Amino acid sequence: MPILEFSGVTMSYGTGARGRTAALRDVSFVTSEGAFVVLTGPSGAGKSTLLKLVLASARPDAGTIRVADRDIHRLRKSSIPYLRRNVGAVFQDFKLLPDATALENVALALQVLGLRPAEVDARARKALRDVELDPATKRSSRCLSGGEQQRVAIARALAGDPAILLADEPTGNLDPRLSREILELLQAVRRRGMTVVIATHDPLVLDHVEVSQILSLSMGRLVNDTAAVAATSEACMASAPLSAPIPSGEPIGAVA
Ligand SMILES: Nc1ncnc2c1ncn2[C@@H]1O[C@H](COP(=O)(O)OP(=O)(O)OP(=O)(O)O)[C@@H](O)[C@H]1O
Ligand SMILES: [Mg+2]
Repeated sequence: MPILEFSGVTMSYGTGARGRTAALRDVSFVTSEGAFVVLTGPSGAGKSTLLKLVLASARPDAGTIRVADRDIHRLRKSSIPYLRRNVGAVFQDFKLLPDATALENVALALQVLGLRPAEVDARARKALRDVELDPATKRSSRCLSGGEQQRVAIARALAGDPAILLADEPTGNLDPRLSREILELLQAVRRRGMTVVIATHDPLVLDHVEVSQILSLSMGRLVNDTAAVAATSEACMASAPLSAPIPSGEPIGAVA
């Protein structure tokens, strides 16, 4: 079943005298539930913009974006919590509250979902244990290492049990060993049935995870989609052979 679907999505930033910057141009793709998707492309290609649109923190100028079969830019205000529950995100700069502990950071995200305090606490502790962090630590987030902060950010995104986890350059600020650990963690998340979409230009990512779809952006255009290529060749295999089998006895190349 498709969990994420872009159809003809175009999006530009800004108006004014300097004109508009087209960040995405006519982007269409389909991602199946449970996929591990890598979104690649050079700096400025539109990767973060695409993720922002899935989070509904930006709106497309044209086209539709469906999450779990619902057009997220046509949701009523009252349905926004639906989207928040379905999509978790880890940002390039973590966006943690520096003075809050790991547990407080994760708990806050759950409170926003409207859960009861006891459930918030239980879920936040479990999410931190899942990323191998001690929920009891009293240290504020600013005193954690980059890798630990990244784990808190992942725990916060996972705590609400979303259908899709988006991660923007999750290994961007980490050394190779920590990068591998984070990728293994994301891989484990995917094995639990969650769809994972990561934006990166780190080639290490492709070596360390079982990727099910690679989306390549260049100057806002989707220039390659491995799932689309696979779907096309499957469709070709399923359709009738181009040349009818040659009846035995007839010489090859005989003209009727
Ligand atoms: N807030 C903004 N206002 C105006 N233009 C923006 C804004 N954010 C991004 N852009 C422009 O939109 C285009 C796509 O940017 P985006 O951040 O999506 O790229 P990216 O692929 O994530 O790049 P990077 O690998 O450097 O993170 C770029 O031309 C960028 O300059
Ligand atoms: Mg980016």
